[in-house]
Amino acid sequence: MRIRPRRLRQTPAVRRLVRQTRLHAAELVLPMFVHEGDEPRPIASMPGMVQHSLDSFRGALAEAAGARVGGVMLFGVPSRRDATGTGATDPDGILNRATEIAAAEVGDALVVQTDLCLDEFTDHGHCGVLDADGRIDNDATLVRYAEMALAQARAGSALLGLSGMMDGQVAHVRDALDAEGFTDVALLGYAAKYASAYYGPFREAVDSQLSGDRRTYQLDAGNRREGRREAELDAAEGADVVMVKPASSYLDVLADVARTSEVPVWAYQVSGEYAMVEAAAAQGWLDREAVIAESVLAIRRAGADAVLTYWATELAQRLTTEE
Ligand code: PBG
Repeated sequence: MRIRPRRLRQTPAVRRLVRQTRLHAAELVLPMFVHEGDEPRPIASMPGMVQHSLDSFRGALAEAAGARVGGVMLFGVPSRRDATGTGATDPDGILNRATEIAAAEVGDALVVQTDLCLDEFTDHGHCGVLDADGRIDNDATLVRYAEMALAQARAGSALLGLSGMMDGQVAHVRDALDAEGFTDVALLGYAAKYASAYYGPFREAVDSQLSGDRRTYQLDAGNRREGRREAELDAAEGADVVMVKPASSYLDVLADVARTSEVPVWAYQVSGEYAMVEAAAAQGWLDREAVIAESVLAIRRAGADAVLTYWATELAQRLTTEE
């Protein structure tokens, strides 16, 4: 036998040399939840994660920056909600206040990013506003997204994550930002965001008021082609980065998008992906650290340039000490 693929697997040194994909702290983004209470509140279905108080938020930001993660993605958990999500556009609303703090404290070390969606702020829990018949009003929602984008840009967000899945949201928000001079604020289009049961724990994380589902705006799990189409549309509308979400169960879509995209492609390892590993590890059924590293590596290998993961800080700390 002349061809022996095992040759390049014989020692740690050669395996390290020929490894095609590896993880870097810079490519990890930490999603964070901030609520209005004075104490951090644990999220039961996401062991180890909390809704931060502004105080504990500051600590976690410093830790993330110390670990050299690439960015943080902020979510607000307001104490009051209404039909149009006014808390999202209030400069004193929890998300905008948290953004100001993050921009001031770690804005030079990492990229401060904000979730641009109404679902945390509406009393019905949908990502958009509703019409008289209780259906999502796509175009009226765009008006709210534009207002939200300006509030977030004024608070100091460097990159807005458009996760609401309304048609035309990227172009509409881009125009609104440019008209006010925020030409340097970047847009992340959650292009291929699937209607997924893996978001389950997130609903607890943000005290979601949703009853029903988001199937009229998020993609159907059976549709592969549509994922790439949405990514192309978002890029054409001016998205600086596009996203595939969830990650692990949609690696085919991620690979498709990554193959043809002309803008960076990110993936979101969502709350359910996190919860499954934590739950199994707590039972002693999985090697927690090994599975975390392997799962994020798989997402990178499939084509993601960066990964949003709740393990970002922990993983980044480990990578820095291993280097
Ligand atoms: C919507 C939003 C969701 C997530 C991120 N942004 C929830 C949804 O679409 O239902 C889910 C993230 C996760 O599950 O970790 N603002």
